[in-house]
Amino acid sequence: MAEPLVLAEKLEGGVGLLRLNRPKVLNALNVDLMKELAERVQEMERDPEVGCLVLTGNGRAFAAGADIQEMAGKSPVDMELSEPFASWETIYRCKKPIIAAVHGYALGGGLELAMMCDIIVAAEDAQLGQPEIKLGVIPGAGGTQRLPRAVGKSAAMEMVLTGEAISAERALQLGLVSQVTAPEVLLEEALRLARSIAEKPPVAVRMAKEAILSAYETTLAEGLRWERRAFYFLFASQDQKEGMAAFLERRPPQFKGR
Ligand code: CAA
Repeated sequence: MAEPLVLAEKLEGGVGLLRLNRPKVLNALNVDLMKELAERVQEMERDPEVGCLVLTGNGRAFAAGADIQEMAGKSPVDMELSEPFASWETIYRCKKPIIAAVHGYALGGGLELAMMCDIIVAAEDAQLGQPEIKLGVIPGAGGTQRLPRAVGKSAAMEMVLTGEAISAERALQLGLVSQVTAPEVLLEEALRLARSIAEKPPVAVRMAKEAILSAYETTLAEGLRWERRAFYFLFASQDQKEGMAAFLERRPPQFKGR
């Protein structure tokens, strides 16, 4: 049987670990890999025991981009009909938080995939970039939209127009990643964050994720209205009653996800 293109594992503490698994081609994201990834994400999304996902690479990269070999000879109509990026939407639409643990190359579609996740943690050796311009194209899976929102116009223009990658340290300064770790503790740190999220009340976690994402998609006024409705809605949850009662009774809360 062929090796899975994505290795999926359920870990202690409500964490789902997903590992891109085409190390020989630096986890180049071909259509089959992205379909498998979307399926594994959906399975973890349905699993009530999983509260947070971690997505990482295998070998010496997170992912060096969409598969150039697969794309090179395509016509525009081939691209339009096969919709290679359709399955990528599943990752962005996942209701549970996803942490990207990035080491080595995160280029092109690799960086775009990391940016579809909710938190990016990078190893000191990470190189993050949008090199598509060097291939005669532009980022096609969100790079021109999510990158400027993450790092601002000037840095995004520089990265997309030169195609040059930035270091993990620079990505931290720009706010593209939330922290930088030594390579050997990257996964450990991502899993620690994931466990910390997975132990929180799941309904509030889902609302918080959706509210923050709405900050990128709506006006400030609409986002604030959405946040307030979600805040009020959470008072209908058992977990809100439990969380506040536990605080007042000075005991740890027992959340049920209801
Ligand atoms: N697609 C297909 N294969 C890839 C690949 C990609 N994006 N990136 C690397 N590979 C393959 C190489 O062809 C090579 O395979 P072989 O051993 O069979 O020749 C293998 O991975 C190892 O790569 P290198 O020998 O090139 O390794 P290196 O250490 O010398 O260089 C690198 C590493 C700088 C990342 C270089 O591989 C590279 O520049 N890769 C392409 C990066 C890129 O342009 N990404 C953007 C793709 S387009 C895109 O992503 C569009 C979008 O917006 C969705």
